[in-house]
Amino acid sequence: MTWQYVAIFFNKAAKIVNYLKNSKKIYKLLRLIDNSITIDKNNCEITQMASILLLNGPNLNLLGEREADIYGNVSLTSIENRLQDIAKKENHNICCFQSNAEHELVERVQVSKKDGLKFAIANPAAFTHTSIALRDAFLAAKLPFIEVHLSNFHAREPFRKQSYFSDIAEAVICGFGEFGYEVALKFIIEKLR
Ligand code: DQA
Repeated sequence: MTWQYVAIFFNKAAKIVNYLKNSKKIYKLLRLIDNSITIDKNNCEITQMASILLLNGPNLNLLGEREADIYGNVSLTSIENRLQDIAKKENHNICCFQSNAEHELVERVQVSKKDGLKFAIANPAAFTHTSIALRDAFLAAKLPFIEVHLSNFHAREPFRKQSYFSDIAEAVICGFGEFGYEVALKFIIEKLR
């Protein structure tokens, strides 16, 4: 009689575990518990694969609506998805982060090495021309990065001519629109081989 109850108990428990496994959040939790992934404080999933940070600065959340004649009509989400697809095919993972706040970008770069990020693609946007703090964060974290700009900022207003990042970047891509991000990613994939 007791054995019968034990069997029923295990049967029900197995059904519950199976049900929970099918729920996305719980599945993530189980993978976290068994250490196959870790989640950083920005909710980026860090896996065993080399992770690449895609960092975008102020106003780039408005891509697609913002000055389309200069920045194109593709949204940041579709750029992020496209890069994620390319990266996944090569067994890499993209950690996407955009912020309008300088300190958030600095903090994201500061924790990058601890998070296991190997490389970054960075468009610091307007902070390109102003932020010594973000430059210092890249130097402190020793995180190699490609500087990407949608527009050719050298051909624009004089105040955009200076970049605080170009001399410490592995490479600089500007004026290719959204394709610049893809070129940067393909270069990084080759470097990580
Ligand atoms: C930009 C160029 C910057 O000068 C500008 O402030 C941006 C976008 C680009 O991608 O072309 O916001 O980084």
